[in-house]
Amino acid sequence: MTEAKEAPLIRLTGVGKNYGNVIALRDVDLEASAGEVTCVLGDNGAGKSSLIKVVAGLHRHDSGTYEVRGEKVAFGSPRDALDRGIATVYQDLAVVPLMPVWRNFFLGSELRGRFGRLDVGTMRETTHREMAAMGIDLRDVDQPIGTLSGGERQCVAIARAVHFGAKALVLDEPTAALGVKQAGVVLRYIVQARERGLAVVFITHNPHHAYPVGDRFLILNRGRSIGYHTKEEITREELTALMAGGSELEELAHELDAAGSSAAAAQVTKEAESLGLTED
Ligand SMILES: Nc1ncnc2c1ncn2[C@@H]1O[C@H](COP(=O)(O)OP(=O)(O)OP(=O)(O)O)[C@@H](O)[C@H]1O
Ligand SMILES: [Mg+2]
Repeated sequence: MTEAKEAPLIRLTGVGKNYGNVIALRDVDLEASAGEVTCVLGDNGAGKSSLIKVVAGLHRHDSGTYEVRGEKVAFGSPRDALDRGIATVYQDLAVVPLMPVWRNFFLGSELRGRFGRLDVGTMRETTHREMAAMGIDLRDVDQPIGTLSGGERQCVAIARAVHFGAKALVLDEPTAALGVKQAGVVLRYIVQARERGLAVVFITHNPHHAYPVGDRFLILNRGRSIGYHTKEEITREELTALMAGGSELEELAHELDAAGSSAAAAQVTKEAESLGLTED
């Protein structure tokens, strides 16, 4: 079927999701294709995680359609999504800190040799090779994963999903808790995954993380889409302005200023500037 072949890996059309009488998502469209990064941006409570949980098979959508390669799906569990090649890396990674990196890499999918013994050698080598392929040279795959930086741990989780055959990679705020340098490592990794032909869905608060790596941008606000653009259609400044955070921080600075608290206002302005949230 040529139609299905050309269809994007993931396509949501008019998707809605309610929790009781809380409307978490309303009429949202999203596409993710092989070799592309689709960014989902929005402030706290915008509906980013709800959207990702629908994609990941954790929640069922209440309205609209969800298609994988042009075929309608209604996943009952993350396992169903994984079987279709859609892997999700959550922010609070499910790792065992005291276990070696290679054990975490193969957690739940251990290789076994004859007599059911663990094939430790192959698992070590594979972990080292897969990390190196993504540009991270681990000195020792036997070190406990807890000794890696947050960014490196995210990278292990991504490399793992790629190794086990993911076609689409969904990342829920992988850079949120990271410093500038570590965030850079993860962003580089996102680009690597795209270059390996994966469809990447990257959720973030930060337009400055999204813009350099993204091909498409969906901006959510209170469960609704307030913009869905390809990179050609939008500048970094426009993307930043669409995010509620910028205008709200500016407003707060003005309010504090008016209230005579100029030191606090200056602080907020400085913060907004350092986040690149103000126009100068
Ligand atoms: N399990 C739930 N039960 C009830 N309401 C929920 C549930 N999960 C999310 N919500 C509500 O749905 C809305 C969207 O939440 P969601 O977690 O998707 O936002 P988010 O964009 O991921 O926010 P954050 O940036 O804080 O992670 C919020 O109003 C939230 O309170
Ligand atoms: Mg969230």
